[in-house]
Amino acid sequence: MSVEKYHPALVVLHWIIALVLIVALTMGTFVLEPMANDSAEKVDALKGHMIAGILLLSLMLIRLIIKVKTQKPTRSSTGNALLDKLSMATHHGFYFFVILMALSGITLSIVAGLPDIVFAGSAESLPKDFHEFVPRIVHGIIAKILIIMVIAHIAGALYHQYVLKDNLIARMKFGKR
Ligand code: HEM
Repeated sequence: MSVEKYHPALVVLHWIIALVLIVALTMGTFVLEPMANDSAEKVDALKGHMIAGILLLSLMLIRLIIKVKTQKPTRSSTGNALLDKLSMATHHGFYFFVILMALSGITLSIVAGLPDIVFAGSAESLPKDFHEFVPRIVHGIIAKILIIMVIAHIAGALYHQYVLKDNLIARMKFGKR
């Protein structure tokens, strides 16, 4: 039997992940990145960012497991082969890049000695600039890729809703399957 909506757990996780991801990308880009490492608020800002990033990784892994194990609605189509390919690449890409984003952040935090400084109250000061570490460069590049993907994903949803008028968003709403 086919279903018309995603499993309720996938729907809840979709909206929580969307919110946390957009907040992490916005705060990371406009607050954390421009803040000097010797500023008084930097350690607290890093603490919030690292907790949000690890939460995001956990939610993404849980969602991936539930997605594999539950029945999904049939694949949608825009009627355009290129757009359909782009849509599939974006959907798979979200798992790949969010997980890679979190892993590059965790690697960066370890090489820069952040767990001790941020969570264990070590008196050691933060490195002058995180860009001296390769995982920081990777983290910054994936951030830009994810920002483009979020914009493309929202544009795709709006295209379905207002151009194709197929109400695809209903699959990601709560209610009877
Ligand atoms: C998917 C989850 C994550 C997202 C979306 C995210 C997002 C971001 C963004 C947008 C930036 C600024 C990048 C730039 O503009 O160049 C950033 C920087 C950073 N992130 Fe993440 N991040 C995530 C996970 C993590 C994790 C798990 C950690 C560590 C445990 C972490 C540690 C850092 C650090 C140390 C910086 C550098 C801040 C600076 O240069 O001053 N991030 N992150």
